[in-house]
Amino acid sequence: MTNPTDTAILTENLGRIYKLRNTKKGENTERVALEGVSLQVNRGELFGLLGPNGAGKSTLIKILVTLLAPSSGKAFVAGHDVWAEAQAIRPKINMVSGGESVGYGLLTVEENLWMFSQFYGLDNGAARRRIKELMTQVGMADRLKSKSSDLSTGLRQKMNIVRGFLTDPEILFLDEPTLGLDVNAGLQIRELVRGWMKQHPERSILLTTHYMMEADDLCDRIAIIDQGKVLACDTPTNLKRTLQKDAIFHLQTTPLGEKAQQLAGVSGIHKFTHTAQDGSDTLEMILQAEDALGNVISTINQAGAQLLNLSKREATLEDVFIHLVGRSLSDATQ
Ligand SMILES: Nc1ncnc2c1ncn2[C@@H]1O[C@H](COP(=O)(O)OP(=O)(O)OP(=O)(O)O)[C@@H](O)[C@H]1O
Ligand SMILES: [Mg+2]
Repeated sequence: MTNPTDTAILTENLGRIYKLRNTKKGENTERVALEGVSLQVNRGELFGLLGPNGAGKSTLIKILVTLLAPSSGKAFVAGHDVWAEAQAIRPKINMVSGGESVGYGLLTVEENLWMFSQFYGLDNGAARRRIKELMTQVGMADRLKSKSSDLSTGLRQKMNIVRGFLTDPEILFLDEPTLGLDVNAGLQIRELVRGWMKQHPERSILLTTHYMMEADDLCDRIAIIDQGKVLACDTPTNLKRTLQKDAIFHLQTTPLGEKAQQLAGVSGIHKFTHTAQDGSDTLEMILQAEDALGNVISTINQAGAQLLNLSKREATLEDVFIHLVGRSLSDATQ
């Protein structure tokens, strides 16, 4: 067995069940949010949890930051048991959730951040310097004196992220840090994350996201999670390599109408998605062997449609997700 003290995070067969009380009927039901999750995040690693809404990402983070009890299995953070030794974990970690609104609206951004720095016992001068430095990195140096309540949602979120980095925690948990941020703000946050990891090679980040590109771009390793279970865990490159023997084709055709469904049944197609818009149809398919393409094209012709465009492309994490989960992450997230 792996020694928990050698790892930043270690979970073994971790499970979490929410008990739901149906007050109308007086019955109790249960929802399994995590089931048999075994993961290891190494020191110095930027680890991503990728999964659709309801996959269990936030539940896992809440357990790891000692806010929620596991129902079964074990979890260790910085070598300590999350439940028995929560007090030893708390000073070593920090957490930011993308959707949360924390801080006191009446305080300025600088006052809010300073207050958090004092909760963590940071030296006054060092805290003030660090606040300025981080706020500059996220392009908010001019907002230090703004009241937090006057910030837009996105700016408040950036302030929260700064709060996470302020204490230079041993392990930082970021739950959907770029959710809802504009492209530029998303870039700034990713730069901040990368820069911080470079400066502190021994620190670790566990980040959740349902943005494939973000996970691919940022993470050393990724666990793909769906319905409370880890389906795959590896580096982005290795995850994509698992699909390399399969060919991924993108086809555009004149409208197929009802007949599109016939394509799903063509032999050799592993995964198939179809969207119709603006007078043409788009088909994405993972083919087990390239010669299945002939069957696809003849089926399109038999349906009375024409092929307008055909391209083959490299596997993305989205394809890996479709391969594992059977639906696209964007569908799953809607
Ligand atoms: N407090 C709660 N009580 C009951 N069920 C809950 C509670 N919190 C989460 N769940 C359920 O547990 C499952 C996992 O939820 P969780 O919030 O961990 O998912 P998530 O991956 O973070 O999703 P999202 O991408 O939407 O944030 C879902 O089915 C959810 O409805
Ligand atoms: Mg969540």
